[in-house]
Amino acid sequence: MRRGDTATVVVAAMLAVSMSSTLGLVYAAQPPTSVSLSYASGPPGFPRLTHAVQPQKSIHDGVFTADQVEGGRKVWDNVCSECHPMDIFGPDYMIGWEGATAGELFEQIQATMPYESPGILPANEYLEVMVFLFSLNGVKPGEEELPLDTAQLHGITIDGPFEWAGGGR
Ligand code: HEC
Repeated sequence: MRRGDTATVVVAAMLAVSMSSTLGLVYAAQPPTSVSLSYASGPPGFPRLTHAVQPQKSIHDGVFTADQVEGGRKVWDNVCSECHPMDIFGPDYMIGWEGATAGELFEQIQATMPYESPGILPANEYLEVMVFLFSLNGVKPGEEELPLDTAQLHGITIDGPFEWAGGGR
């Protein structure tokens, strides 16, 4: 019994190592143009390229739940919709964030929105409204809840494809 448990743990650890090295390679192999594009079209002065953390997951890996999307929709309706039409955060906007991390977008929204009183919302509402923006762009939820953990958020890369899924609003 105990020996079996140990073997399972070892195999799981080996899988984790091989998975992260594979994903690391994929990230490293991204064409440099996608990095400079996202930098050029991102908000001015944003230190996009200074993070040394190597992202290990993509927003397409089912990293948030459908419940979190629904929570984000409420935040959107209650707060953000007052100033923003939804469709300005479609694929053209998301492409500007390609190569950055979910942590960077989260921090950006938290530091700047709502425009007149940045940072006033609970942190989990910023998290949920961010995944709502992902879902508007066709990024699918999964089983795993996205944690409110900066280190983990910085380990998730924003990448395409993006396809508008937000309907007519
Ligand atoms: C009181 C009006 C107002 C509210 C409420 C508001 N915003 Fe904004 N938002 C703005 C303005 C104005 C800008 C442009 C800021 C700039 O260019 O410096 C902006 C810019 C943004 C940007 C950056 C766009 C870019 O250039 O990268 C994002 C993302 C954003 N808002 C998301 C949100 C979210 C999410 C909410 C809800 C939590 C929200 N905003 C609520 C007025 C608002």
